Amino acid sequence: VNPKQAASEKAASYVQDGMTVGLGTGSTAAYAITAIAARVRSEGLKIRCIATSHASEELARKNGLIIAEWHRVSRFDVTIDGADEVDPAYRMIKGGGGALLREKIVASSTDREIIVVDQSKLKPSLGAFPLPVVVVPFGWQRTRDRLEAMFGCEITPREAVNGEPLVTDDGLQILDLHFGGPLPEVDTLEATLKTIPGVVECGLFTGLCQHVIVGHLDGTTHEFFPGDPFTF
Ligand code: 5RP
Repeated sequence: VNPKQAASEKAASYVQDGMTVGLGTGSTAAYAITAIAARVRSEGLKIRCIATSHASEELARKNGLIIAEWHRVSRFDVTIDGADEVDPAYRMIKGGGGALLREKIVASSTDREIIVVDQSKLKPSLGAFPLPVVVVPFGWQRTRDRLEAMFGCEITPREAVNGEPLVTDDGLQILDLHFGGPLPEVDTLEATLKTIPGVVECGLFTGLCQHVIVGHLDGTTHEFFPGDPFTF
């Protein structure tokens, strides 16, 4: 069994009739979307969804899920999304798939953000995975310079397969900050990053996870809630 699939199927069991559901982005979230859709088909659940990327929306529609209009959605009951790293304080780095801006907008309006991961994503501290920062394309080189001067770490523009800067679903770009170890001043880092003109959002998520589901190779899952230590 794929651990990501095991975690996602467990997470999909928390979706109930009548809910408004946020759909994440990435390979793990894709399993969740198909698992939710399978329940909708087999149990006749009436739910409406908003997806955090064009790719997830397309997958959701293909599987028959109903996509809601934003002006009719005030809160999400549940959102199921992946993560690149989760620390013991339930902080996360997200954005490996480039959808962090939409993911943070949805997570911030969600009652229960369920994060689905395999065990490799649980980390004692955040920062081995590069921290994605979404920037406005205009003058991104100067935004990069200011980030470099502030943190002194290597910064790489996220590229598309053709080697050009990747353009996000919102027409923005992503700079990856390679700290290569524990993030500095993790509690104030997000606010500090946002003082730089051109920075739109960062992939550090704090206080936005209410439930973690870890999948294992044997198909079992472990569930954790903020305050719980990660133990198996
Ligand atoms: C996308 C994300 C993803 O949730 C994160 O990158 C994990 O991806 P995967 O499930 O493919 O390992 O934040 O922006």
